[in-house]
Amino acid sequence: MSAQIERTLVIVKPDGYSRGLTGEVLRRIEAKGYTLAELQVISPDRERLAKHYAEHEGKPFYEPLVDFMSSGPAVFAIVEGHRCIEGFRALAGATDPTAALPGTIRGDLGRDWGLPVQQNIVHGSDSPESAEREINIWFAG
Ligand code: PPS
Repeated sequence: MSAQIERTLVIVKPDGYSRGLTGEVLRRIEAKGYTLAELQVISPDRERLAKHYAEHEGKPFYEPLVDFMSSGPAVFAIVEGHRCIEGFRALAGATDPTAALPGTIRGDLGRDWGLPVQQNIVHGSDSPESAEREINIWFAG
Protein backbone atom coordinates (compact mmCIF):
# COMPACT_ATOMS: atom_id res chain seq x y z
CA MET A 1 0.00 0.00 0.00
CA SER A 2 1.45 3.40 -0.94
CA ALA A 3 1.91 6.10 1.69
CA GLN A 4 -0.63 8.91 1.80
CA ILE A 5 0.26 11.93 -0.32
CA GLU A 6 1.49 14.71 1.95
CA ARG A 7 0.89 18.43 1.60
CA THR A 8 2.87 21.37 2.87
CA LEU A 9 2.51 25.13 3.00
CA VAL A 10 5.20 26.99 1.09
CA ILE A 11 5.50 30.78 1.30
CA VAL A 12 7.62 32.88 -1.03
CA LYS A 13 8.28 35.55 1.58
CA PRO A 14 8.13 39.31 0.82
CA ASP A 15 11.88 39.43 0.03
CA GLY A 16 11.56 36.59 -2.49
CA TYR A 17 8.44 38.10 -4.04
CA SER A 18 9.87 41.64 -4.33
CA ARG A 19 13.11 40.29 -5.81
CA GLY A 20 11.16 38.49 -8.54
CA LEU A 21 12.14 35.03 -7.33
CA THR A 22 8.65 33.52 -7.23
CA GLY A 23 9.00 31.85 -10.62
CA GLU A 24 12.38 30.38 -9.75
CA VAL A 25 11.11 28.96 -6.45
CA LEU A 26 8.00 27.47 -8.09
CA ARG A 27 10.15 26.11 -10.92
CA ARG A 28 12.34 24.24 -8.43
CA ILE A 29 9.29 22.81 -6.68
CA GLU A 30 7.86 21.56 -9.97
CA ALA A 31 11.24 20.34 -11.25
CA LYS A 32 11.52 18.22 -8.09
CA GLY A 33 8.24 16.60 -9.10
CA TYR A 34 5.86 18.11 -6.54
CA THR A 35 2.45 19.48 -7.48
CA LEU A 36 1.24 23.04 -6.97
CA ALA A 37 -2.27 22.36 -5.67
CA GLU A 38 -3.22 25.96 -4.78
CA LEU A 39 -1.55 29.33 -5.18
CA GLN A 40 -2.37 32.86 -4.02
CA VAL A 41 -0.65 36.24 -3.64
CA ILE A 42 -1.60 38.02 -0.44
CA SER A 43 -0.25 40.71 1.86
CA PRO A 44 -0.02 38.80 5.14
CA ASP A 45 -1.89 40.49 8.01
CA ARG A 46 -0.45 40.59 11.53
CA GLU A 47 -3.40 38.69 13.01
CA ARG A 48 -2.85 35.60 10.88
CA LEU A 49 0.93 35.91 11.17
CA ALA A 50 0.56 35.81 14.97
CA LYS A 51 -1.29 32.50 14.61
CA HIS A 52 1.18 31.18 12.06
CA TYR A 53 4.23 32.00 14.21
CA ALA A 54 2.59 31.37 17.62
CA GLU A 55 5.26 28.86 18.66
CA HIS A 56 7.97 31.54 18.25
CA GLU A 57 6.25 34.26 20.30
CA GLY A 58 8.73 35.63 22.83
CA LYS A 59 11.81 34.72 20.81
CA PRO A 60 14.09 37.65 19.93
CA PHE A 61 13.34 37.38 16.22
CA TYR A 62 9.54 37.17 16.62
CA GLU A 63 8.55 40.86 16.34
CA PRO A 64 11.02 41.69 13.53
CA LEU A 65 9.87 38.54 11.71
CA VAL A 66 6.19 39.57 11.91
CA ASP A 67 7.15 43.11 10.81
CA PHE A 68 9.05 41.71 7.85
CA MET A 69 6.37 39.21 6.86
CA SER A 70 3.68 41.93 6.93
CA SER A 71 5.82 44.34 4.88
CA GLY A 72 4.44 43.39 1.46
CA PRO A 73 2.90 40.73 -0.75
CA ALA A 74 3.94 37.10 -0.52
CA VAL A 75 3.01 33.96 -2.44
CA PHE A 76 1.29 31.15 -0.58
CA ALA A 77 1.26 27.68 -2.11
CA ILE A 78 -0.14 24.33 -1.11
CA VAL A 79 2.39 21.82 -2.43
CA GLU A 80 1.62 18.11 -2.68
CA GLY A 81 3.67 14.95 -3.05
CA HIS A 82 4.98 11.98 -1.09
CA ARG A 83 7.33 13.26 1.66
CA CYS A 84 7.10 16.82 0.30
CA ILE A 85 7.49 18.37 3.79
CA GLU A 86 10.99 16.93 4.23
CA GLY A 87 11.68 17.33 0.52
CA PHE A 88 10.82 21.01 0.35
CA ARG A 89 12.85 21.79 3.47
CA ALA A 90 15.82 20.12 1.78
CA LEU A 91 15.20 22.23 -1.33
CA ALA A 92 14.99 25.38 0.82
CA GLY A 93 18.24 24.79 2.71
CA ALA A 94 19.33 26.05 6.13
CA THR A 95 17.43 28.90 7.83
CA ASP A 96 20.46 31.22 7.59
CA PRO A 97 21.00 31.95 3.88
CA THR A 98 24.71 32.60 4.41
CA ALA A 99 25.16 29.09 5.80
CA ALA A 100 22.72 27.39 3.41
CA LEU A 101 24.46 25.08 0.98
CA PRO A 102 24.80 25.95 -2.71
CA GLY A 103 22.18 24.02 -4.65
CA THR A 104 19.43 25.02 -2.23
CA ILE A 105 17.02 27.93 -2.73
CA ARG A 106 18.48 29.91 0.17
CA GLY A 107 22.05 28.92 -0.64
CA ASP A 108 21.78 29.92 -4.30
CA LEU A 109 19.52 32.95 -4.04
CA GLY A 110 19.88 34.29 -0.50
CA ARG A 111 22.44 36.25 1.48
CA ASP A 112 22.78 38.43 4.56
CA TRP A 113 21.78 41.98 3.69
CA GLY A 114 22.90 43.45 7.01
CA LEU A 115 19.28 44.06 8.00
CA PRO A 116 17.90 43.69 11.53
CA VAL A 117 15.89 40.67 10.47
CA GLN A 118 17.00 37.65 8.50
CA GLN A 119 15.37 37.46 5.10
CA ASN A 120 15.46 33.92 3.78
CA ILE A 121 13.12 33.87 0.75
CA VAL A 122 10.90 30.91 1.63
CA HIS A 123 8.99 29.14 4.37
CA GLY A 124 8.06 25.47 4.45
CA SER A 125 6.01 23.67 7.10
CA ASP A 126 8.05 21.49 9.46
CA SER A 127 5.59 18.63 10.12
CA PRO A 128 2.25 17.26 8.88
CA GLU A 129 0.53 18.84 11.89
CA SER A 130 2.10 22.26 11.19
CA ALA A 131 1.20 21.96 7.52
CA GLU A 132 -2.50 21.37 8.22
CA ARG A 133 -2.57 24.13 10.86
CA GLU A 134 -0.84 26.63 8.56
CA ILE A 135 -2.93 25.72 5.49
CA ASN A 136 -6.07 26.30 7.54
CA ILE A 137 -4.83 29.76 8.54
CA TRP A 138 -4.08 30.96 5.00
CA PHE A 139 -6.50 28.98 2.82
CA ALA A 140 -9.59 28.82 5.05
CA GLY A 141 -12.89 29.47 3.29
S1 PPS B 1 14.08 28.03 15.92
O1 PPS B 1 14.58 29.00 16.88
O2 PPS B 1 14.96 26.87 15.79
O3 PPS B 1 12.68 27.67 16.21
O4 PPS B 1 14.11 28.76 14.55
P1 PPS B 1 13.88 28.14 13.12
O5 PPS B 1 13.03 26.92 13.15
O6 PPS B 1 15.19 28.04 12.43
O7 PPS B 1 13.08 29.32 12.49
C1 PPS B 1 11.74 29.54 12.82
C2 PPS B 1 11.21 30.66 11.95
O8 PPS B 1 11.79 31.89 12.34
C3 PPS B 1 12.59 32.42 11.31
N1 PPS B 1 13.80 32.96 11.90
C4 PPS B 1 14.17 34.21 11.73
N2 PPS B 1 13.61 35.18 11.02
C5 PPS B 1 14.24 36.35 11.04
N3 PPS B 1 15.39 36.60 11.71
C6 PPS B 1 15.98 35.63 12.44
N4 PPS B 1 17.09 35.89 13.10
C7 PPS B 1 15.37 34.36 12.47
N5 PPS B 1 15.65 33.18 13.06
C8 PPS B 1 14.66 32.33 12.72
C9 PPS B 1 12.88 31.29 10.38
O9 PPS B 1 13.11 31.74 9.08
C10 PPS B 1 11.61 30.53 10.50
O10 PPS B 1 10.62 31.17 9.72
P2 PPS B 1 9.80 30.37 8.65
O11 PPS B 1 8.85 31.35 8.05
O12 PPS B 1 9.14 29.25 9.39
O13 PPS B 1 10.82 29.90 7.66
